Amino acid sequence: MRLLEGKVAIVTGAGQGIGKSEALYLSKLGAAVVVNDRGRENGKGQSFADQVVNEIKQAGGAAVANYSDVSDWNAAKAMIDQAVGTFGGLDILLCNAGIVRDRVCYNMSEAEWDDVIRVHLKGHFAPTRFAAAYWREQVRQTGKPASGRIIYTSSEAGLFGHFGQVNYASAKAGITGLCLTAAVKLEKFGVTVNTISPRARTPMTEGTFGKFVVPHGQFDEQNPDNIAPWIGFLCTDAAANISGQIFVVYGGTVSLMSPWPTKAEIKRQAAWTIEELVVEAQRIMPGLTARPPDFPVNPVDLLAGSQGAP
Ligand SMILES: NC(=O)c1ccc[n+]([C@@H]2O[C@H](COP(=O)([O-])OP(=O)(O)OC[C@H]3O[C@@H](n4cnc5c(N)ncnc54)[C@H](O)[C@@H]3O)[C@@H](O)[C@H]2O)c1
Repeated sequence: MRLLEGKVAIVTGAGQGIGKSEALYLSKLGAAVVVNDRGRENGKGQSFADQVVNEIKQAGGAAVANYSDVSDWNAAKAMIDQAVGTFGGLDILLCNAGIVRDRVCYNMSEAEWDDVIRVHLKGHFAPTRFAAAYWREQVRQTGKPASGRIIYTSSEAGLFGHFGQVNYASAKAGITGLCLTAAVKLEKFGVTVNTISPRARTPMTEGTFGKFVVPHGQFDEQNPDNIAPWIGFLCTDAAANISGQIFVVYGGTVSLMSPWPTKAEIKRQAAWTIEELVVEAQRIMPGLTARPPDFPVNPVDLLAGSQGAP
């Protein structure tokens, strides 16, 4: 008996890159897979989703293609309905689809901002919304926990920031907030919600950074197939108590990240004045603060100075 035998999974953006590896891997573990991807070869050839569905079927697995934009509200509902209608239920929602529209913040267009926030953030929430409603109804009807799994895909850009990616980093940080909140809400239905921040050689990263060198005769750290086993594990019963966690997954490394710890703090039962805060800030961030020699300065003078800056 395979580890995910009888389970039904949706993998979004599964036509290429990391999502494709994940869909193939979940299928090898026994899951039936809804392979979502709206992309096509060269924009008009064979659909990426169809290619992966064919690969799964040729290997003896069960899969069906879904071609919709994950950020389309009604299409997201239809995708959940498709999984239930085709395979009789839903156990795993793996949100992976994404795009990049990199540009320095002062040159970014409104469309570049909106598209990236929409595809990543709404594209994670919309399927979650309808999967959660499905699992809630299952619990109501059966009286048993749904044992559902939601896995999101963030990025280290969202955890640490990255040059040229204000839109992408904001969307990816939003996904971790969505994860932490959905994990709390869905716990009572027996549904876990976790997030990975992967690193791999894919059409997305090669499109951004250029062709990667594939090593010969040594471990290929950038191979997207390295990510899938951790996803597989999170989907098993052995991971039933793991929820609300963020993992960086790369090569042979899985890092469990800690949520924002308090590094230092000033605290009292009264508001601070700015003069006091200059002193307190130096106390808790001695390496980062330099008290202006003539502090307090007149804010109007500061503004006037910045206007004249190059
Ligand atoms: N590759 C990395 O190193 C890396 C690092 C950090 C985060 N990620 C994240 O991992 C995920 C997968 O990245 P990848 O590198 O495999 O990318 P990729 O571009 O190789 O594959 C993404 C797939 O998503 C599909 N897609 C895009 N928008 C869609 C939409 N609205 N609806 C449905 N499908 C859509 C594309 O057609 C494509 O096939 C993304 O969320 C990405 O942001 C990747």
